Amino acid sequence: MLNKHIVVLISGNGSNLQAIIDAINTHNIKATITAVISNQANAYGLKRANLAGIETHIIDHTHYATRKLFDQSLMKVIDQYHPDIIVLAGFMRILTSDFVMHYSGKLINIHPSLLPLYRGLNTHKRALEDGATQHGASVHFVTPELDAGAVLIQGLVVVKKSDNEKTLSNRVHQIEHIIYPQAVKLLVNNQVELKANRIYINNQYLQQPKQYRLENN
Ligand code: GAR
Repeated sequence: MLNKHIVVLISGNGSNLQAIIDAINTHNIKATITAVISNQANAYGLKRANLAGIETHIIDHTHYATRKLFDQSLMKVIDQYHPDIIVLAGFMRILTSDFVMHYSGKLINIHPSLLPLYRGLNTHKRALEDGATQHGASVHFVTPELDAGAVLIQGLVVVKKSDNEKTLSNRVHQIEHIIYPQAVKLLVNNQVELKANRIYINNQYLQQPKQYRLENN
């Protein structure tokens, strides 16, 4: 199998980027992260990429008059690398449909909730306010509608009575670092296909997202 090329987009800490870098290095995932792109110049994830010897780019969205112009500039940089997979790892920008359609079937995102619950922002706060008993994260294909693409894998955490946003978010991050590399591995191994917004794994229609629970939660 040919080595797959991945481009990762970040906006911040990049702990999910790190989990994917580590998984490629330790779990024999036949892939190379060829570039990390951030819309924030001070994103810590850029340091992680530098330490791992990965090329980085900063494309500051505030320098563009419209979303469309920003996305066009982003596409130009991404396409230089001819990636097989584009991974959004805490990339906090809404993307235009032109961008999303350009990478259809190879653009994935991790979202900190059990989709379709809590699309958008402040997911941990909203889950706590609702008295949710479980929460988690979802890896999904990106489609033009925000956080609405088909879900490949979910990681579940139990919400404790004593949880606050910080403690809950820490456990969601733990499960994210398990499920995101697994999702990347499935794509790298050509085991996943998106057809008409439906996911097929090894040619079988995926009725329900794969689910993982955080151990010793
Ligand atoms: C993650 O929790 C991810 O689910 C979330 O941002 C965090 C990034 O953490 N993404 C979104 O909210 C996208 N809508 P990281 O920078 O440490 O990987």
